[in-house]
Amino acid sequence: MHDAILVTGGAGFIGSNFILDWMRNTNSAVINLDLLTYAGNPANLSALEDNPRYLLAHGDICDAGQVALLLRTHQPRAIVHFAAESHVDRSITSPESFIRTNVQGSFVLLEQARRYWAELGEADGQAFRFLHVSTDEVYGSLAPDDPPFRETTAYAPNSPYAASKASSDHLARAYYHTFGLPLLTTNCSNNYGPFQFPEKLIPLMILNALEGKPLPVYGDGANVRDWLFVGDHCAAIRTVLEKGRPGETYNIGGNSERRNLDVVTTICDLVDEMRPDPALGRRRDLITFVRDRPGHDRRYAIDATKIARELAWSPAERFESGLRKTVRWYLDHPEWVESVRTGSYLEWIRKNYTERVAL
Ligand code: NAD
Ligand code: TYD
Repeated sequence: MHDAILVTGGAGFIGSNFILDWMRNTNSAVINLDLLTYAGNPANLSALEDNPRYLLAHGDICDAGQVALLLRTHQPRAIVHFAAESHVDRSITSPESFIRTNVQGSFVLLEQARRYWAELGEADGQAFRFLHVSTDEVYGSLAPDDPPFRETTAYAPNSPYAASKASSDHLARAYYHTFGLPLLTTNCSNNYGPFQFPEKLIPLMILNALEGKPLPVYGDGANVRDWLFVGDHCAAIRTVLEKGRPGETYNIGGNSERRNLDVVTTICDLVDEMRPDPALGRRRDLITFVRDRPGHDRRYAIDATKIARELAWSPAERFESGLRKTVRWYLDHPEWVESVRTGSYLEWIRKNYTERVAL
């Protein structure tokens, strides 16, 4: 077994931040297995182009032969599994790809990992880890006064996305319980930061505000998410990989519950401050309430005391400073923004928002 790790979905938002963070903080190599769907962008990792510690393997986690070959060729000491279809709205319009990648793909990866792990010697077998990256959305929706999600909260996924992730979490659990595969699962709250595809709330609102377009807030805007800066998530994953106990799950969150409307108004004020445009006036006036998402979860919140107590991880970034850095990043990277706004992106935006008439 070598010191390298196999990352899946490393050309996406969190995966690319994770690989860059891994390169800065360790000496070990990364093999990045990524299908390069609409959400995967190799340019996120262009800084690593000539780095001998980094390799992009273009491929599909559903392809058992390719996964097996990669494991046998590179002999990684861990798998960090990010690859997924990740956007709730897309899971409502076309759920099939969520079942394929999130359920079938996770199964293929677990099964190939089990076969690879079974052939390792005793010491390597004990050192090997499979870290399954999941979401708080598997726990369903909280009422305003409910306590935040704990690792023991019953699963109650509400969207096809959440159900597909819950399904993969159950498979991961079964592979630990039945086969003893050294599994770690993390359930994290909403991330934000550089390289997030502008279909998600925060980057979409930053770019629309910048360009003076309507800011489409679903429903009454009082849905609550618990925001975590992506760099904090990357540090948490490194910590769990290093110190987590196989068979355990760890909730990861930012202690930053915010209503969507408050997130959007804060973005408006930051864009007004950094890019004032007298012709536009106040960006807050661009806020438009639109038809709600079907089955829209009202509130997510994470109780992250287990990972704090057992592994000494807690988030470093406050929401307001993290959001300021994120707005700055999008304003400073217009080439990146243009490169991801392809025809299929524009088609998605048209489809999702023209059908959502203003309320
Ligand atoms: P993303 O959509 O930005 O990236 C997903 C990546 O997976 C892309 O690079 C894509 O090309 C790749 N991919 C998709 N299907 C594939 C396949 N069949 N084979 C190989 N690669 C494939 O997602 P993200 O926001 O970076 O999320 C990463 C992981 O973290 C996901 O598992 C997601 O469920 C989880 N998560 C995300 C958040 C969040 O706020 N974004 C929060 C908690 C957990
Ligand atoms: P999103 O970024 O899609 O993440 P998730 O659905 O996984 O939490 O959405 C975050 C919140 O913002 C969610 O409550 C839906 C809402 N939202 C809007 O109000 N308008 C939008 O255009 C988008 C994309 C999301």
